[in-house]
Amino acid sequence: MNHSTTSYQQLCSEFYDLHRPEAGAKEVNFYAQFFKTIQGPILEAMCGSGRILIPLLQKGYEIDGVDNARQMLTNCQKRCASKQLHVQLFHQSLEELALPKKYACIFVALGSFQHFADQTIAFQALQRLHEHLLPSGSLLIDMIVPWGLIQGDIQGNVLSAEMRTTESKQTVTALDGAEITSQMTARIYPNEQLALSENTYEKVLNGKTMATEREQLAFRWYHRYEMKLLLEKAGFFVARIWNESFESDLQSTIYQAVK
Ligand SMILES: C[S@@+](CC[C@H](N)C(=O)[O-])C[C@H]1O[C@@H](n2cnc3c(N)ncnc32)[C@H](O)[C@@H]1O
Repeated sequence: MNHSTTSYQQLCSEFYDLHRPEAGAKEVNFYAQFFKTIQGPILEAMCGSGRILIPLLQKGYEIDGVDNARQMLTNCQKRCASKQLHVQLFHQSLEELALPKKYACIFVALGSFQHFADQTIAFQALQRLHEHLLPSGSLLIDMIVPWGLIQGDIQGNVLSAEMRTTESKQTVTALDGAEITSQMTARIYPNEQLALSENTYEKVLNGKTMATEREQLAFRWYHRYEMKLLLEKAGFFVARIWNESFESDLQSTIYQAVK
């Protein structure tokens, strides 16, 4: 079950760019520091609309991007053009990745890899990433365990096996005054380490609904040694693991997996 094809469409992309416009200095500097050690081409996999790709291009790094949401890539291209930045973007799914070149470093930022609901497809994607690295190349993959979400399923030392539903709502305002509201209903499967959400977006300008959109999104989390083992199974050697908090409400674990 891969939900990624029905997600990150027009309204979701607009919402995303207003909600998380640009990566903060801590995250940008983390990658920039690492790239100083890299000789050869760099790729951001699941680059979206360029939240972190753009500030890294602005620092002078040449980075390609790949994503399977056409709308996110269109927004990325537009944002790069408005800043006179050159970028090569590919429209492909990670699990079927077939790019014309190989990379010294590939990175996947801020939990993006966790959109694979199906573990077999996630593993296939890791194998495709491995295939796209040059010998001794590094994959940097940022994974998030949603501790706040999990907490709701723990009583004492017991993790509930029951599926639980949560709802949330957020509104962002565009430059023209339009408000985009995202309403999310997530089903959380604690034992599966999986959240499946049904989201509705509504864009309202001057009291009039301009557009609506529905999407399904999956988020699967992996604990530290599960992820290490999965990377090893895909043929990587895990050289380093960092714990960082790039966004105040999220804890990232970043794995450096070497080919
Ligand atoms: C949360 S967004 C993050 C974008 C960017 N990495 C960032 O940090 O802002 C996740 C991105 O993953 C992309 N995506 C989801 N499933 C994918 C797949 N199977 N292959 C390629 N891209 C995918 C989505 O289109 C979306 O742009």
